[in-house]
Order: sequence, then C-alpha cells, then structure tokens
Amino acid sequence: MNTTSKATLSLTVAALSVASALSFSSSVQASDSALSEKLGIADHAVIAHRGDSYNAPESTLPAYQLACEVGADYLELDLQRTKDGKLIAVHDDNLKRNTNIETVYPERADDPVNTFTWAELEKLDAGSWFNESYPERARESFRGLKLVTLDQVREIAEGCAHQPGLYIETKVPEFFPGIEKDLKDDLTKHGWLDDDAKGKVILQTFNKSSLETLQSVMPTVPKILLLWAGDGYIPTKDSAPKADDESYAQYYARQEVASKEGYAEWLDYAKQHGAIGVGPSTIQTQHDDAWSSQFSYMELAAPWMVEMSHEKDLLMHVYTVDQAVDFERYRDRGVDGFFTNRPNLAVKTLSGGEGKDIQATLTKLGY
Ligand code: G3P
Ligand code: CA
Repeated sequence: MNTTSKATLSLTVAALSVASALSFSSSVQASDSALSEKLGIADHAVIAHRGDSYNAPESTLPAYQLACEVGADYLELDLQRTKDGKLIAVHDDNLKRNTNIETVYPERADDPVNTFTWAELEKLDAGSWFNESYPERARESFRGLKLVTLDQVREIAEGCAHQPGLYIETKVPEFFPGIEKDLKDDLTKHGWLDDDAKGKVILQTFNKSSLETLQSVMPTVPKILLLWAGDGYIPTKDSAPKADDESYAQYYARQEVASKEGYAEWLDYAKQHGAIGVGPSTIQTQHDDAWSSQFSYMELAAPWMVEMSHEKDLLMHVYTVDQAVDFERYRDRGVDGFFTNRPNLAVKTLSGGEGKDIQATLTKLGY
C-alpha cells in the first residue's frame, strides 16, 4: 500500500469515526457550509432583523449603525415604496405601531405606506414609541428619529468596516406593483449587482408571485422563500382555535405541519423558482415576555426539516432567533443563518467572542 492509499484509508476511517460519533451523539447536524461558500454567503450568517432592533428602534439609523458595529453579516430590511416612488424600510402595513402617525395624521393613521409621500413620512417620529415600550433600553436621543430609505441603509453598509450585505424583503408586494424592478434599478445604479458583489445582496419574500418576479428581473441574485404555516401557506394539522388567554406565541407553538409532503412541496416550489434556500419560522425557548412573544412562531426548522432542505440543496436561514440557547440549538440542527433582533448576542454566541458594549457603542455613535 502506497502512502497515498494509506492517507486515503486513514481519512476514510477518520470520516467514518466522525460520522459514527455524530450519529450516536444526539441529532447534531452540520450546516451546508459548502453551498454557502459557493454562493458567497457567510456560514451561520448573522442577519440583523430591522437592524439591531433590540437595542434601538427598528428600521432606524441607530438600529442599522449598531448592527454594523457589532459585526452583523447582513442588514435586513422590509422594502416598501412611498406614493412618490421612494424605496423605504418599514415592516408593518401601516405606521401606527412604530411612529406617532396618530398624532401627526390622525385621519390617515390606518392608511397604508404607499398613500404617503416621503416628505409626509419624514415628519413622523419613529423612535419615541421604543422609549415608551422598552424604558429599560430607552435613550433620549431616540426621540424624533426618522424612518429610513433603502439608500440610507445601503450607505451604512457601504461605510461599515467589514462590509455587511443587504438582505431585502419585498413586504406586502401586492401593494407595490413593479417594486422588484425598482429595486433592481436602485441596486444596479449603486453597483450592488456588479459581478464582484457576489452574495452581498440576498432577496427574500413570503410571496410566491414576488419570488417569481424577483427571479425574472434578478435571476442571478440569491433568493430565499420565507416559510409560514396556516391558511395559504404550509398546511397544518387541525388544532383548537387561539384561546383568549393565550398569546399568539403560545398559539403558534402548538401548530404542527400536516405532513412531510406538504412541507416538501414548499421547498420544491422554492427550488423550482430560483430560490437558493428557505427562511422558516422558529419557536423561541422563552416566549412569554413582552419582547420575545412578538417573535416566536411555529416550528418550521425541526431537525427533519433542516435535513430535508439540505438534501434538496437549499440553505436554511431561520427567523427570528434572539436567545443564546436558541442560537446553539438551531446551529446544532445545522441551519445556515439566523435572522435576529440581537446581532451582538448572535455574533458573541456563535463566534465565542466577547461581544460589544452596546451602551458604549451607542454613545460612540452619537446617541
Ligand atoms: O424577513 C425575515 C423574517 O423576519 C420575516 O418576518 O415579519 O419580521 O418580516 P418579518
Ligand atoms: Ca422581514
């Protein structure tokens, strides 16, 4: 036996030992790091959900600046469009939850984002609600913060030392015909779709029609189909209706997908329409407090689901993970990335590093 053969044999034995150890040591799985690498996407990607929206008001400058400072791989935003065509970052269908619209435009408080011009939206305070909702993380400087445009988030990414990418969701795309093409034009104009920007933009949507349009207008840009369960989405087993005394998080936690075939159909659809992966919901271990109860959903990243995705050569970026125990739990299942409101905690937990001092960092940023 020559040296090469010996080396091959010992590598094979080593690989078998590892495989055997893994098969006996619970259900720890590896992420599909080879696929991530091929696509230019970080393995165990940290995706700052609406910025660092735990420590600063979501979708505002400090939230995105903080996400940059703590080392997020991607700045996530929900794309909507104003009446006069400005692309902006807003999550909800209207502006009641995270601005003072009920004071500034009381008769229009329920109206959707696309009925306002950018000049009108610039008059809104998108920070004070955070101080009132989370006094333990309030800062006087958050009062009066403005909504932000796609261009502002992009500029933060461009000015950030480690050059994070943009992870852009077409939100309620049925309200914004042609928004996918508008997005392409904006990204192209600023060089974000150049050949050397591989993996710097990821597109995401819950909407199958928007996925198809994104694939048509930006065929080479990575796309993720976000997964949900229930009416119009992945079928669930019958369950008791939501009780008055249970939270949505508790209700979601007891939903189960009806079958493996029903789940597989969504993965196959994603694959057939150009997605490089899926973005399923998760359950947060602790989901009863005012913060976590908003972001804990159904279990759509069970071990068999992660395995099935990888078997189909699809990455899995899960939403929304905010607790150290859950970064570890889902990492051990093999997921490839994490949408998180707490990118500092994600980086710290996944890399074993120190993490940043959030209050000192906000002060350094001028807040
Ligand atoms: O965008 C990924 C995930 O966060 C989807 O949920 O509702 O927060 O946009 P949402
Ligand atoms: Ca989103």
